[in-house]
Amino acid sequence: MSDGKYLTLSTNAKIPQIGLGTWLSKPHEVENAVEIAVRNGYRHLDLAMIYKNQDEVGRALKKVVPSVVKREDLFITSKLWNCSHRPEHVEPELNETLKQLGIDYLDLYLVHWPVAFPHTGQLITISEENPNEVALDLEPSLVDTWKAMIALPIGVSNFSIKHIQGIADATGVWPVVDQIEAHPLLPQDDLVAFCKEHNIHLTAYSPLGNNLAGKLKIVDYPEVQAVATKLGATPAQVLVAWGVYRGYSVIPKSVQESRIKSNFQQVTLSKEDYDTISSIGHNKHTRFNTPITYNTPNDKKWDINIFDEEAEKSATHQIKII
Ligand SMILES: NC(=O)c1ccc[n+]([C@@H]2O[C@H](COP(=O)([O-])OP(=O)(O)OC[C@H]3O[C@@H](n4cnc5c(N)ncnc54)[C@H](OP(=O)(O)O)[C@@H]3O)[C@@H](O)[C@H]2O)c1
Repeated sequence: MSDGKYLTLSTNAKIPQIGLGTWLSKPHEVENAVEIAVRNGYRHLDLAMIYKNQDEVGRALKKVVPSVVKREDLFITSKLWNCSHRPEHVEPELNETLKQLGIDYLDLYLVHWPVAFPHTGQLITISEENPNEVALDLEPSLVDTWKAMIALPIGVSNFSIKHIQGIADATGVWPVVDQIEAHPLLPQDDLVAFCKEHNIHLTAYSPLGNNLAGKLKIVDYPEVQAVATKLGATPAQVLVAWGVYRGYSVIPKSVQESRIKSNFQQVTLSKEDYDTISSIGHNKHTRFNTPITYNTPNDKKWDINIFDEEAEKSATHQIKII
């Protein structure tokens, strides 16, 4: 086992291959989780305005910077939320994120989704026409938002090949990173190949099969458990190793100390083990994070086609690239 591996971005910056995810880390949990993670060697933190916990992450950072780690030895990613896509809102939201975190720069700033919401003072506004849907802002294009981001250390998230190609063709500026859902049930081979060709680093989110209640986590698949038993590893370590084998960075989320620690301990898969884990995705294409299917009191449906998934065929709206 080893830990602490880095990959190089197109900017020549080094990104630690394993990072800590923080989505759905509840208040009072995430401060602790970030402190434990940094004390145990994590140097890459994945954050976002919409996770509504950056102020707590900021409190944890105060406890470990500079006593445990220098700021410049951390790699901190955050994301522009959908309600700030209009160019005049981009930099103010970045500044708000920096204020919440109590730091003066990010290592990476991503456009969180290729979807805009209205800027109402709320992160999410319910549609007036349909109380089961979020309100969308159909005015700003991806290119408008991208042009406002260009002055910053930038990447994107949840962007498909055509979204990336569209913003790059229009501006000549390629994102440094695309953060996407990727795991054995959603390997996204075409997007992986495209990003490799254009020197775009990929970060895989939901590597363990997501954080949403009620879904079978990939850690619970028998094939994953069998490889884990064979290697004397945990199923989560096997899934992180599957992403590492594919050459990108991976950001498992946990708020539990033992898991935060073990998820960071790397194991190496043989080609045979890698193929066994890949095989669980055959004919089982599963994208956990498809916003048109959101349907909880807190997460209403986004009536827009982002990924061309079957479930999105009924969407009223398409992404406006240019
Ligand atoms: N860009 C985007 O749109 C986007 C979307 C989704 C996620 N993300 C980022 O990616 C991160 C990771 O994705 P995710 O949170 O969806 O899911 P994930 O990391 O695949 O899975 C997290 C779930 O697995 C559990 N878990 C963690 N370690 C485990 C272990 N060793 N054994 C068994 N279960 C374990 C966690 O519970 P405990 O906490 O109780 O351990 C939690 O329920 C997020 O936190 C976020 O930072 C980004």
